[in-house]
Amino acid sequence: MNLRTVATTPFNDQKPGTSGLRKKVAVFRTPNYLENFVQAVFDTIFDDATAPPGSTLVLGGDGRYYNREAIQIILRMAAANGVAKVLVGQGGILSTPAASCVIRKYRTFGGIILSASHNPGGPDGDFGIKYNTANGGPAPEKITDAIFACSRALTSYRIVDAPDVALDRVGSCTLGDMTVEVIDPVADYAELMESLFDFAAIRALIAGGFRLCFDAMHAVTGPYAMEILERRLGALGGTVINGAPLPDFGGGHPDPNLTYADELVAIMYGDSAPDFGAASDGDGDRNMILGRRFFVNPSDSLAVIAANATLAPGYAKGVAGIARSMPTSAAADRVADKLGVLCYETPTGWKFFGNLMDAGRVTLCGEESFGTGSSHVREKDGLWAVLFWLNILARRRLSVEEIVHRHWAEFGRNVYSRHDYEALPSDVAAGLMAHVKECFGELPGQRFGNYRVKFCDDFSYTDPIDGSLSTGQGLRIGFEDGSRIVFRLSGTGTEGATLRLYLEAFEADPARQKVDAQVALAPLIAIADDISELRQRSGRERPTVIT
Ligand code: G1P
Ligand code: ZN
Repeated sequence: MNLRTVATTPFNDQKPGTSGLRKKVAVFRTPNYLENFVQAVFDTIFDDATAPPGSTLVLGGDGRYYNREAIQIILRMAAANGVAKVLVGQGGILSTPAASCVIRKYRTFGGIILSASHNPGGPDGDFGIKYNTANGGPAPEKITDAIFACSRALTSYRIVDAPDVALDRVGSCTLGDMTVEVIDPVADYAELMESLFDFAAIRALIAGGFRLCFDAMHAVTGPYAMEILERRLGALGGTVINGAPLPDFGGGHPDPNLTYADELVAIMYGDSAPDFGAASDGDGDRNMILGRRFFVNPSDSLAVIAANATLAPGYAKGVAGIARSMPTSAAADRVADKLGVLCYETPTGWKFFGNLMDAGRVTLCGEESFGTGSSHVREKDGLWAVLFWLNILARRRLSVEEIVHRHWAEFGRNVYSRHDYEALPSDVAAGLMAHVKECFGELPGQRFGNYRVKFCDDFSYTDPIDGSLSTGQGLRIGFEDGSRIVFRLSGTGTEGATLRLYLEAFEADPARQKVDAQVALAPLIAIADDISELRQRSGRERPTVIT
């Protein structure tokens, strides 16, 4: 076995974002690009330039283009950096929540996940890599900053010369002194799901004629959904659509929302719509829940799950607390109040939930952007949310729509919508944000029709566990009746700037709760435009995407 130290020059653009390092495939294929980043990760996480004796890493990805090549490179580099063992998903596949599950279950040193989440794949698409720590969650900023610093000073990387490892069969082999164990990517995750949910009740529901459709969008959840929904829960063959993971996701955009999951939406709004529909994204951490001709807003989904949590065996003892990102509606807060637990309001991004979960403060977490999860892993989890809903439906025997309507009647409805203005010129977006901030002085007390401004601020958050402060997390304008408008710039967009406008109103009267959200929110939409001069500044008449 030939161990080589290869001289290299640093790239200066390897700063991991909240979801790791994400670039075009072509960038990752630049000679030494992936190798440099991986060496920067190893140099950061291993103290003495080599892995501690006996250390194990988990490795897998969402199956997108370049996944297999990247896995072979990372395995050869892990062997050269003294890693004792790597658990790699068969075929190089591991969904993000499954990787988190495996890291935790086998108490490994950490893991490397290859994914660009919901971004399109293929030779012209995106690729990504991120490091997760021993708790199963994404590395905190302290570590990602260190990786970036390391990448900028890198002069060499280590790799062994060896033939490719066979990834398609479960089993062990060696690569130099390192053991490579190819594992079933689904088994550990499916076992965890079976320990959390009432599979017998869900099986009985399905056996009784309940029909469902799951759209895997040709991304990573196909094999997971086939095993869990069709094999273990007895759903009919064909329940999982677009179930084969493809390197280019079949040319689609694997993001489970009303725009991109259009095939599922057509089925669920069609004449012979099944009882339940769901979809997940590229790497399996997002979810969309649909009833027959009915869309469940992700903010409501978190609240419904929280209110019904004890119906699932894994949550029978109740929840310790709930956390939601700031722009997510306050529907979950109302449930937390009733349950007598705290609801934490964190900045956008899953990483803020990790500390709260590790400290045992919260059990359930969610974001309005189709992310829901719990402390069973340290990532959001698409299929977990689907199974939670099936568990609730199996126990309550009501339709999805009826469950949501009854929830609103009990707790009130937080009518909610997000308007995205994509690919705005960066200076236009920055100018709008600056203008809104300038208005903050005169807004409190100001009246807009029936709405009177109660407060406005630029959201900041002090982590209650480690005391770290995050500022500039979004501009909030709160009204006296509890309605809100939030302006925020996306941190994940790749073209120009994406402005997100979040709108929320409260409706306590069940007789008025079933109206269309856009209709109910029309006055707030007008106020948002009035304050921010959105249409005039952007030159846009309407948002790019409405959720
Ligand atoms: C978006 C979502 C956010 C989510 C993130 C990563 O970020 O809005 O909730 O955590 O993707 O999946 P944004 O583009 O808004 O910064
Ligand atoms: Zn994702």
